[in-house]
Order: sequence, then C-alpha cells, then structure tokens
Amino acid sequence: MTTLAWRSEFELKQARMDRTHVEFVELLEAVETATPGAAANAALGALLEHTVAHFEQEEQWMGQLGFAAENCHAMQHQSVLQVLREVVRRHGLQADEALVRALVTALAEWFPVHATMMDAALAMTMAERGFDAETGTLAEPLPAGAAAITGCGGGSCG
Ligand SMILES: [Fe+2]
Ligand SMILES: [Fe+2]
Repeated sequence: MTTLAWRSEFELKQARMDRTHVEFVELLEAVETATPGAAANAALGALLEHTVAHFEQEEQWMGQLGFAAENCHAMQHQSVLQVLREVVRRHGLQADEALVRALVTALAEWFPVHATMMDAALAMTMAERGFDAETGTLAEPLPAGAAAITGCGGGSCG
C-alpha cells in the first residue's frame, strides 16, 4: 500500500479540481514506486510539472473570484513548490532514495490537510458564487469597488 491513498473526503464536488487531485495522488504514487535513478527522476519531473499547473489553476480561479494574489492559500502553494523544486534539483544531481521517501511522506501528510481545508474552502466559494470552472463564468461577481478577499476562507485563517 502506498503512503497516500485516495479517500472520499478528498472529493470536493468540483469536477476539475477533483480530477486534478486524483492525478496528484497517482503521480505521488508513481514517485513512491519508481525504481531509483532515471525512473524516479522522470516521476519527480512529472509530479513537479503537474503541481505547477495544479496550483496555477486554483490561483487563476481565486483571481477570478476576487481573492488577493497573496492570500494564504496561494502562499502555501508557493512553499510546497519551493520544496518540490529543490528536491527535483537535488535528486537530478544525485539520486537519493531517502530524499524521495521524505518528500513522499511530507506530501502525503500535507495533501489531506490542504485539500480538506484550503481547497475545500475554495470549492465552497466556487459553489456559493456560481463559478463554472469549465467556462470561467461567475454568477455572483464581487460588487464594483469591493476589496479583494485576503483570507482563503479556510478554518486556519480569517
Ligand atoms: Fe489543490
Ligand atoms: Fe490548493
């Protein structure tokens, strides 16, 4: 069994977000099960590329909903990407199974908390404001002149 298995609580009733999260779990499993060396490098590269797109997608939605660019959700994305990029860089220089294991463990601990708090709060805002992720249409835009939303709507921030 791999470190992070898909669980029903990760489903946030936003089809595109849920698909992306299923892919994230699959790509993390691919990193965990890759043979050391070139295969592990390729799996890490695929995870990094997907995670960049995953976070950009959510941050684009947040922007369309009127969130400030520097809200805590986007800041957490940046921290995770910084770690992931560093692991990919170091592993590219020298294969390191312990480093890969540490990354998998850290991401497997991070993802359930992030998905069920920050991503769940975003998914709820999308639903409440009538945002269609496929078309980018928004039924309830912020009123003209309203301040950008600076929190993420999650339980851990205001
Ligand atoms: Fe996400
Ligand atoms: Fe997120």
